[in-house]
Amino acid sequence: MSKSETATYTHGHHASVVRSHSWRTASNSIAFLLPLIKPHMKILDIGCGPGTITVDLASYIPDGHITGLERAGNILPSARSLAQEKGVTNIDFVEGDANALDYEDGVFDVVFWLRNVVGLSRRGNRIMGFLFGILNSLG
Ligand SMILES: C[S@@+](CC[C@H](N)C(=O)[O-])C[C@H]1O[C@@H](n2cnc3c(N)ncnc32)[C@H](O)[C@@H]1O
Repeated sequence: MSKSETATYTHGHHASVVRSHSWRTASNSIAFLLPLIKPHMKILDIGCGPGTITVDLASYIPDGHITGLERAGNILPSARSLAQEKGVTNIDFVEGDANALDYEDGVFDVVFWLRNVVGLSRRGNRIMGFLFGILNSLG
């Protein structure tokens, strides 16, 4: 992807922005998804930010696993600390860009990307196609 096609997350991760993200939980942010979640599922949370939703959602999948993917690597240490504080182990946080995902087809049951449609950039359709690809037949 050329630099001109890279979308920017304009809010950045100033402490005030992170604070405003940090009240978010699975139940107050992705209630629509929770009835569909099964304990064994593998989930990808794209643009996970400080990871509060990711960590909370991990408790809904005790036999599964959740990956928080985030382009801004500097926010991930606090996401990892939060997981550790809460004793959540079925989780990992990965630095990466949704524009250049590197997952095999069918590895996730659920993929979601919350509050970041602008992050799709002009290659949005291709990314969405790829996201459907990495979902398995249950997704
Ligand atoms: C509004 S925050 C939402 C954080 C979290 N999902 C939540 O709802 O609390 C959007 C996040 O998406 C990340 N992001 C933006 N574009 C991205 C991309 N192309 N790939 C991965 N992460 C991206 C930003 O760095 C930011 O942390």
